Amino acid sequence: MAVEQTYIMLKPDAIQRQLMGEIISRIERKGYQIVQAKLMDLDSEIIANHYAHLLEQNFYPKLEAYMLSGPVFAMIVEGEEAIQGMRTLMGPTNVFEAMPGTIRGDFATDLTYNTIHGSDSPEAAEIEIKRFFG
Ligand code: TYD
Repeated sequence: MAVEQTYIMLKPDAIQRQLMGEIISRIERKGYQIVQAKLMDLDSEIIANHYAHLLEQNFYPKLEAYMLSGPVFAMIVEGEEAIQGMRTLMGPTNVFEAMPGTIRGDFATDLTYNTIHGSDSPEAAEIEIKRFFG
């Protein structure tokens, strides 16, 4: 067991649908600390860096348009095993497989508009925290 920091991002639909408070309370109720947070507008360059592994996918233009459609809420979340723990709290990328009780299971019905991002490994967490918080 180790205290970890992970990069969590509430995506534009979470802000537009006024789900920020609900999602942040789930993270806090779980017992994680939000150690830094900010609302920010992304540009195409930071989106391309963040989703570099998906640039060639046919859904990339839809994903980019979504991520440009409004501000995101970027957070550094800290806690015991927080990287895997947040992925469990979020539910899987495929929202159709996300169980009720998870964030995506409760709030997302579309593969692209899936409400929240969380780092998927310690390496990704380190890179993403640097990318979004410097
Ligand atoms: P990915 O990095 O595979 O998953 P995660 O966000 O869970 O780490 O995918 C990044 C985003 O790309 C995903 O959150 C939503 C979008 N996406 C689609 O729009 N369609 C798809 O078929 C997939 C796999 C992802």
